[in-house]
Amino acid sequence: MSASIKQAADIIRSGGLVAFPTETVYGLGANALDSLAAAKIFELKERPAFDPLIVHIADPEEINGLAVIRPGLAQNIKALAAKFWPGPLTIVLPKKASVPDIVTAGLSTVGLRVPDNKIALELIRQSGCPLAAPSANKFGRLSPTTAEHVRQQLPELECILDGGSAKIGLESTVIALPKDGFAILRQGAITAEDLAKILPVSRQPVKNNGLASPGLLRSHYSPGKPLYLLGAEPPLDKSRTGCLVLQKAPAGFARTEALSPQGDLRAAAANLFSALHRLEADRAVEYIVAEPVPEEGIGLAIMDKLRKASFRWK
Ligand code: TXA
Ligand code: MG
Repeated sequence: MSASIKQAADIIRSGGLVAFPTETVYGLGANALDSLAAAKIFELKERPAFDPLIVHIADPEEINGLAVIRPGLAQNIKALAAKFWPGPLTIVLPKKASVPDIVTAGLSTVGLRVPDNKIALELIRQSGCPLAAPSANKFGRLSPTTAEHVRQQLPELECILDGGSAKIGLESTVIALPKDGFAILRQGAITAEDLAKILPVSRQPVKNNGLASPGLLRSHYSPGKPLYLLGAEPPLDKSRTGCLVLQKAPAGFARTEALSPQGDLRAAAANLFSALHRLEADRAVEYIVAEPVPEEGIGLAIMDKLRKASFRWK
């Protein structure tokens, strides 16, 4: 049986973990102001301590208790929040002391976002605290876009709120706000083009206490099988290979997954992780080849995930 939001909020308030739906992927949440609770996230996910957690709030006003807003920046943040929140945009800002160091992996900055999902927002409100939440998967593995994906990867987790399939299916766009505009730290559904309507693209090199954003790690989001970008694969036996394509699936493969028969990149993004989960679970599939998608709009984020999933196998 699926847990109620009230039960979930009780667990959060007593320092426990809850998986909950967002519009991007399912999150594994804990009270962001409780360092012991946050530590449980790292433990359950087997996540390295250098990888910071995103803090989820229900109302843009809550930023003020968590982040320091440089003079001159308030207007820009307001404009971004008005346009993109609730939604798949994480804004990295200098953190206040109220945010425990473990949440930000020792960085002096914190990533904040308002998720666009009723269950998530209600959970934050009923818990009465911001929620630190990474994607609800084991570190480096495929992100969950359904409650079932979470159950499979984190069977020991007691409380999973089921909100159906994630609408967007890819993690949020992460940005920093240097003085001269914005810089993308992780690609997502909101593109540089979208953001440039509000703020200029920064020309400064991205700095984050000398650490690149872990979203920029070259290997990440991997199915537990070799994945190659189509055209870069070694000689493979098709009958033991799964094929991920955008529209039309070629014949002869052990399994094929077409992300969007209409060639719609948003639909493709929403289906990407589910398709990869199915390819990962299919025993007839030993290798995966993925057809590149057009690098426009959300296609940029899809290709970013596919490149990271394929990195080890180049
Ligand atoms: O869509 C999402 O963002 C999902 C849902 C659950 O909200 N969450 C998510 O969290 O993708 P996670 O832990 O899988 O990704 C966190 C990433 C970090 O690896 C890093 O790239 C970036 O967000 N990040 C978080 N805090 C940061 C900070 N202070 N500085 C730079 N990057 C940060
Ligand atoms: Mg993740």
